[in-house]
Amino acid sequence: MENAKHLEEIRSKIGVCDNEIIDALAERMKHVQEIISYKKATGIPILQPEQEAKQERELKEKLGDNPFEEEILDIFKYIEKNSRKVQAKSLFDYNIFLIGFMGAGKTTVASELTKKLEMNRVEMDQMIVEKQGMSISEIFDEYGETYFRNLESNCLIELQHVKQSVVSCGGGVVVREDNADHMKKNGRVVLLTAKPETILERVKDSNDRPILENHKNVQFIASLMEKRREKYQQVADVKVETDGKTIDEICDEIIAKLIEFDNQKEAAEADS
Ligand code: S3P
Repeated sequence: MENAKHLEEIRSKIGVCDNEIIDALAERMKHVQEIISYKKATGIPILQPEQEAKQERELKEKLGDNPFEEEILDIFKYIEKNSRKVQAKSLFDYNIFLIGFMGAGKTTVASELTKKLEMNRVEMDQMIVEKQGMSISEIFDEYGETYFRNLESNCLIELQHVKQSVVSCGGGVVVREDNADHMKKNGRVVLLTAKPETILERVKDSNDRPILENHKNVQFIASLMEKRREKYQQVADVKVETDGKTIDEICDEIIAKLIEFDNQKEAAEADS
């Protein structure tokens, strides 16, 4: 009996610690949001890896030879990850649609951007493949391009119900005019561009793009790109050239440009 009472006492002490942790975390998240508002207003880069490294050093110093150093550092990794999520939520409360020609880097950039912003990731082609149980090439072969474009539009309509996702679109998503409306309902559209030579380099070894099959040459790529150029440009809220840039640079540029776009949009709405 006495033992059971003792155990309950210890449990209630843990409960008190939990309350303190909850309060401290909520307070911490609030300050993270304050930092974001400040950075957004002043144009200071949102992601500062050197600041994260400094925080980690300070944390290790604070912990000294704490017997739970390893476990506490592990918990702080999650705190950091979730701080990034809070930042991204207050910055981008919508979907980010990456558009651009085949091989412009949408998939690679989506993967990195998702990590940086702790957002969800959607690969539209993959979504179609899973739904149909067929590869893109099989869909083209069996049902033709129009059928595939219908599937793309349906995906975009479905995606209007998700939030906080980086969506890597198929290169031909701009072919249908309605698709722009579907994307803009709850998202911003980011256009990635690259020179035809760069595109060729990136796609030459893959065989999963029926439109490029037997046409893997600069002339064909340049001419299809030219046909779609105006549509890409019209739909894009933000444009980023990818030639000669690292994925990290491209992601940081996307983030900075989206914030600039939103700030301008907000200012224009306040004026009207
Ligand atoms: C297409 C691009 C492909 C894929 C399909 C058609 C296009 O996507 O949707 O092969 O018309 O540009 P990626 O741009 O991801 O390769």
